[in-house]
Amino acid sequence: MDKFYCILNYGCQMNESDAEHYAGQLQELGYQSIDDFHKADIILVNTCCVRESAEKRIAGKIGELKAVKTANPDVIICVAGCMAQKDGENLRKKHPQVDLVIGTSYVDSFGRVLREFLEKKHEMRNAECTIKDGSSVDLKKRVKKLPSAFCDLRVNETEFEGQRVRKSSFHAWIPIMYGCNNFCTYCIVPYVRGRERSRSAENILAEVRQGVEQGYKEFTLLGQNVNSYGKEFGEKNAFAKLLASVDAVDGVERLHYMTSHPRDMQKEVIEVVAGSMHISHHFHLPVQSGSTEILRRMNRGYSREDYLQLIELVRHYVPDAVITTDIIVGFPGETEKDFQDTLALVKEVGFDAAFTFVYSKRSGTPAAKMEKQIPLAEKKERLNRLMDLENSISLEKNKSLVGKTVEVFAEGPSKNKNIWNGRTRENKLVLWPCEGKSYRDGEAVQVKIETAQTWLVKGISN
Ligand code: 5AD
Ligand code: SF4
Repeated sequence: MDKFYCILNYGCQMNESDAEHYAGQLQELGYQSIDDFHKADIILVNTCCVRESAEKRIAGKIGELKAVKTANPDVIICVAGCMAQKDGENLRKKHPQVDLVIGTSYVDSFGRVLREFLEKKHEMRNAECTIKDGSSVDLKKRVKKLPSAFCDLRVNETEFEGQRVRKSSFHAWIPIMYGCNNFCTYCIVPYVRGRERSRSAENILAEVRQGVEQGYKEFTLLGQNVNSYGKEFGEKNAFAKLLASVDAVDGVERLHYMTSHPRDMQKEVIEVVAGSMHISHHFHLPVQSGSTEILRRMNRGYSREDYLQLIELVRHYVPDAVITTDIIVGFPGETEKDFQDTLALVKEVGFDAAFTFVYSKRSGTPAAKMEKQIPLAEKKERLNRLMDLENSISLEKNKSLVGKTVEVFAEGPSKNKNIWNGRTRENKLVLWPCEGKSYRDGEAVQVKIETAQTWLVKGISN
């Protein structure tokens, strides 16, 4: 009989990549993918806990699955990812419909953990439901007592030997390192993803070459802090060298990497980008705040001036760099003056886009205990002012593309089937009317840009 799995994925690109690995292991166990979770035999919720808003949304979804479990008690509900690592067994207490909690260290042993779970469940099914003193045991309760796997943070293999089932047929996520050692004071990631560990360059290059053989032509090297890649190997400029070697693989047409930490962004990396034909000129450099004092209390390891110098360096080597960032407003103790420093920095740099967040208190992090937490209304008011400013800058940046012809890789039709979308090498979203034409996934299309909006540009294909 056919067996189906459905993965509900939340959070960052690392989670998307982990989901492709879970999918690979599920297919090895004979499951097929299905979009409707009501029809699945296994539902895997891959979670994020970077902000409270994400957690609330995911908790709502897990709550929804209660009815699915009631309708079909045989369905297996797994919760994986950062929230699973953070909350562990409490998740099963809070949501009894959850069968298995999979911590972030078990991404590549998920297949084994699931197989053992299924075997034990089967054994229990077959065992008689009475224990020695003759009292009967609720079978459901016994199955609930099966072990999860979530505690140990260091058992993941860094070398990848398995198979991924990728969503895209032309773009591949390639994790190059896991974890983070930075301990920015607001951030929960180091606690739920553990210490930094890197894959060997050979293992990464083997996966890229295999990707090319399978028809992939666009690659993104992933890590919480890619500039720290290879530090534990004791090699200098390991990330710049890795980037250059992946760039040199025949068949790699576009290359991206994320996320960079401004403190660790080496000149050598910028030089490699500048000298390459394929590496995107997109630099995502999360600044978080424009106030040196707030940056210090965030433990970011750079000042406002250091950051501005880095931007100068990037633009010196790569004059047409597309620069984006992440910003948190309302960090504990952030004054109006600090916030003004952020607004001024945003103007000075002229980011193509900024991902902006209100500070979210994550218990267990140092910032959660800091004094002068900012009221939500004030945080939101600052966020709105920041977004208004950034939106106008993004629009101006996008307007500078009007009249130019850009190469996009076609991704598919948008909601309106006559309008296609795709991305430029610098990751700008482009829409154009297909006029009855259909494109292959990832097909290179030349589009002449005619109009610009805040988040995208529109044009016509030649
Ligand atoms: N509150 C708000 N935003 C956060 N980020 C990380 N932790 C928090 C938090 N506690 C943001 C940072 C980071 C991005 C991925 O998420 O800006 O760069
Ligand atoms: Fe979190 Fe800072 Fe590590 Fe990024 S670098 S994952 S913000 S601790």
